[in-house]
Amino acid sequence: MKLLIDDANLDAIRQLYQFYPIDGVTTNPTILSKAGRPPFDVLREIRAFIGPDADLHVQAVASGAQGMVEDAHRITEQLGENTLVKIPCVPEGFQAMKILVKEGVRVTGTAVYTPMQAYLAARCGAEYAAPYINRIDNMGFDGIAVAKEIQDIFTNNGLSTQILAASFKNSQQVLELCRCGVGASTVSPDVIRSFVNSPAIAAAVDAFAADFERLTGVRSMKEC
Ligand code: E4P
Repeated sequence: MKLLIDDANLDAIRQLYQFYPIDGVTTNPTILSKAGRPPFDVLREIRAFIGPDADLHVQAVASGAQGMVEDAHRITEQLGENTLVKIPCVPEGFQAMKILVKEGVRVTGTAVYTPMQAYLAARCGAEYAAPYINRIDNMGFDGIAVAKEIQDIFTNNGLSTQILAASFKNSQQVLELCRCGVGASTVSPDVIRSFVNSPAIAAAVDAFAADFERLTGVRSMKEC
């Protein structure tokens, strides 16, 4: 499972890249609105930091297939070819996907709440389909089960599209999908940080250092 950051805050992105094996960044219009600056300024800074080869997913905003195609052209022209254009899985979105995939634009089908949306995105040639795990949970359904069903649909129909699971509120949801080996998960900085925040972890590491210090008087191998 690839791990991406679902955020546009460059300080958070830099910090997480420093510590963890991160495979790219995803944004949506809501995330960009939180940055409060011209969207392409923010996105160009993210692209410059992650480099030209990393995946950056950016959402088309226009409604109507033609508008989405035009948004996609602007997004890839500004941010490079390894930018995946997120297209909502609505009827006009599928129409746009078919056009874009023919042109060689990499597409992520987004706003996926049902397995059949993911199936249609895959049949249109999307590279990823993004089920919104927590939002599905909040509707009274089971987001993890929906993602597993999508995984089965892709496998059983010989579709090469991968799941890009999105909308997580806790690390348990990410763990469940990691266990199933979905293609990718995009996760907010806070939830990524929570992967390694148990007091037991810090206590174990401190206890090792303290034992070593009792033995040697120092807390590093290079000093003893
Ligand atoms: C990804 O494609 C979605 O835009 C995003 O993960 C939604 O997350 P949220 O439900 O936390 O807003």
